[in-house]
Amino acid sequence: MSDLEITGLTKRYGTEPALDDVTFTVSDGELVTVLGHSGSGKTTLLRSVAGFIEPTSGDVRVNGNSLLNLPINRRGIGIVFQNYALFPHMTVRQNVGYGLRVRRVRKDELRERVDRELERVQLSAYADRKPAQLSGGQQQRVALARALVLEPSIVLFDEPFSNLDAMLRDGLRRDLRQLQRRLGFTALFVTHDQREAMALADRVAVMRSGRLVQYGPPQEIYNRPSQVEVAALLGRSNLLRCLVGERDATPVLEWRGQPLVADDPIPAHAGEVTAFIRPENLVIEPPVEGAASRPNVITGRVVSADYFGSASLITVEAGNGEPILVEARHNALSDQDISVGAQVGVRIPREAIRILG
Ligand SMILES: Nc1ncnc2c1ncn2[C@@H]1O[C@H](COP(=O)(O)OP(=O)(O)OP(=O)(O)O)[C@@H](O)[C@H]1O
Ligand SMILES: [Mg+2]
Repeated sequence: MSDLEITGLTKRYGTEPALDDVTFTVSDGELVTVLGHSGSGKTTLLRSVAGFIEPTSGDVRVNGNSLLNLPINRRGIGIVFQNYALFPHMTVRQNVGYGLRVRRVRKDELRERVDRELERVQLSAYADRKPAQLSGGQQQRVALARALVLEPSIVLFDEPFSNLDAMLRDGLRRDLRQLQRRLGFTALFVTHDQREAMALADRVAVMRSGRLVQYGPPQEIYNRPSQVEVAALLGRSNLLRCLVGERDATPVLEWRGQPLVADDPIPAHAGEVTAFIRPENLVIEPPVEGAASRPNVITGRVVSADYFGSASLITVEAGNGEPILVEARHNALSDQDISVGAQVGVRIPREAIRILG
């Protein structure tokens, strides 16, 4: 059992907080990804947990026991870095066995554990090569094996796949997830790739300016972002600034003259809110007369249409002059021809609208 509990963790350089009162718990066997822009404090968080950085305040506990007074090598934590940090003069086998040699593990046991680890990451055939004779993906697997051979209960990853191309990343990501489930270690994985963050995670921790701004399962972070910045971090979205009006004593939205009705509750006394809508939740329809006065139906002109095979990204300039982004999925059964200049209708399902402050 290895619950990782981070409470009030703060790191200041001078007066600037690189990490600002961060609190969350990673449950035993859970994989949590930490997502945020460059400079949001992801590495500072990871290094504080690992012990490379001494936090200004707050605590890091594993199963209730604080780690803060333990040296790095006594924390039971494995670390996989972005640049792998392999020893170039050592073979793959020597790299993987390094930590065990430092810990004076017996020779035959060492060999057995290294062999088992190499097999796990499918590198047995490369055991006698030097890192320079390996591909980026293979080097990454050596770094993983070197961390796992010490049987850590918690493994930290700092953007381990960022130097690899997209295809390779997808494969490695799936392998890592399988391995993590099988071995059952608790993991904290830093990335600034939103696809990676969502695909890997049980839960995503979203960082912004040193603060944790949202923590939850990927579906929740994607569909119910806590703020505009989180919505923007997780892919394309429409963020429509709306005035809050009132009709029959219930608040209604008005997007530059266009009435919108939403299922999501509208705060009663807010003057303005942002209506957040993912492009794939909008529906292109034939244009209808007099749509401008009807709630949730927009008529406009297609100003750009980018075809990606499985989908098209379409920008429609609404009657009020504002752009709206629609993602239309394609398949063999439906083949709408949407070309630049066409007049179209866009329907905004009321359940697709989320109200952000
Ligand atoms: N040793 C240091 N001295 C002063 N400021 C620092 C130091 N280390 C980090 N910072 C600052 O703390 C903030 C957070 O840095 P951090 O490295 O944690 O960001 P990050 O989210 O990992 O970014 P990236 O995605 O670029 O790796 C940044 O503004 C950075 O400039
Ligand atoms: Mg970083």
